[in-house]
Amino acid sequence: FSPRLLAGEQVLITAGPTFEAIDPVRGITNRSSGKMGFALARAAREAGAQVTLVAGPVALATPRGVQRLDVESAQDMLGAVEQCVPHASVFIATAAVADWRPAAVAAHKIKKDGTGQLPQLGFIENPDILATVAASRRAQEGALYCVGFAAESENLLEHARAKRQRKGVPLLVGNIGPATFGQDDNALLLVDEAGVQELPRASKHALARQLVAELARRLGAARAG
Ligand code: C5P
Repeated sequence: FSPRLLAGEQVLITAGPTFEAIDPVRGITNRSSGKMGFALARAAREAGAQVTLVAGPVALATPRGVQRLDVESAQDMLGAVEQCVPHASVFIATAAVADWRPAAVAAHKIKKDGTGQLPQLGFIENPDILATVAASRRAQEGALYCVGFAAESENLLEHARAKRQRKGVPLLVGNIGPATFGQDDNALLLVDEAGVQELPRASKHALARQLVAELARRLGAARAG
């Protein structure tokens, strides 16, 4: 690991869950801790990159030297990301973005009405931030290298390969189970054009450094054409 690995790169990272409001006091979220994304932000910074971290609601300290933008919903996250994409050379999507949001946000707290009647929630699909960025002109022209993550409960390799194709990204990183939410260590599966590579179980910071080194290698190769 060298402090020059990503010198000159502008790295944009999403991390954490999103929070989709139901009413002013309630919402839907998930159990992502944001730790992998924050570890990557720190490692990218330590590798000499300028790093912007777009974070959903998490209880984590901002890594030193990293610019952080806090957001709540998937739509907010997409808005923040789109503002940063024109300056970015690498995009890493680690956020666990909610797939759906409530179709309508109640203006006031939804109350029990005393009749036992249950509220009905309708949903609409959230934008796919990674797929949107990967389809952008910057990414298509090769000026922005995109990396996706996958957390699956079964058939990780198969899903990771399919996801890499579906999202249109050169590198897809699978979280090797069991569930890694909130833990300080992880193991990763890197799936790219050349094949599959495993980074064995280690702390998220150690893995983030290895992933940064792998990323730097692939960036070099992609630039060389
Ligand atoms: O589709 P799925 O959620 O399994 O894909 C995971 C990858 O896509 C992650 O990199 C995640 O950050 C990204 N993603 C996204 N926007 C979504 C859903 C997923 O950026 N709405």
